[in-house]
Amino acid sequence: MANEERLQKVIAHAGVASRRKAEKLIQDGKVRVNGETVTELGTKVGPNDEVEVNGVPIDKEEPVYYLLYKPRGVISSVSDDKGRKVVTDYLPEVDERIFPIGRLDYDTSGILLLTNDGEFANLLMHPRHEVDKVYVVKTKGIPSKEQMQQLRKGVKADGEYLKAVHAKILSTDGKKNSAIVQVILHEGKNRQVRRMFDSLGFPVDKLKRERYGMLDLHGMNAGDYRALKPHEVKQLRQLAEKNVE
Ligand code: URA
Repeated sequence: MANEERLQKVIAHAGVASRRKAEKLIQDGKVRVNGETVTELGTKVGPNDEVEVNGVPIDKEEPVYYLLYKPRGVISSVSDDKGRKVVTDYLPEVDERIFPIGRLDYDTSGILLLTNDGEFANLLMHPRHEVDKVYVVKTKGIPSKEQMQQLRKGVKADGEYLKAVHAKILSTDGKKNSAIVQVILHEGKNRQVRRMFDSLGFPVDKLKRERYGMLDLHGMNAGDYRALKPHEVKQLRQLAEKNVE
């Protein structure tokens, strides 16, 4: 039939896996068409055929949730036309069509959540929710007490009002003229931490997101990832729903 396509292409298009991975899934006997296991790569299917991967219909992917310790020098995206490293490169075993919840800058490291659950992602990205995001910032220069207060009161950057929930100096190095500052945000505006410090005249040397809600990077190295536990997903949902109707 004219609208029949090769099975591996259909699986890839559904976002379940790359074409190459889809071929492997078929060869490994993980794919059923209309209830029958199919292992032949050339098999063609039409829109009325029901395709299952690992027992799950391909248009009904199970929601999955991951935490990645994003290294510096990686783009918070699922693909890059210039061939640079993207965050999903760090989760090669995940077949579901995951994407990052919000973003960390190319040069920022730390906690990044990824999911295929659009509703969950929207909830966490809602501007009114109150999930703490804790950043540790290394600044060039040492902010004064008044300037730290300014971060908590709010600063204007590019016509936008940017505010920290908390901001405190953790340590200073007079010789190197630098400080380590902890900043807690609820909102997640574009390059917010960098813009806040820039507006006070302190360029950010290093930036790391150490905590997201109740999640931290305990026991993880840059580039590691893990699945969130069901109770962690539930807790994040509750945190985010607190202030959002
Ligand atoms: N603020 C920034 O400036 N960059 C990030 O990646 C996250 C928060």
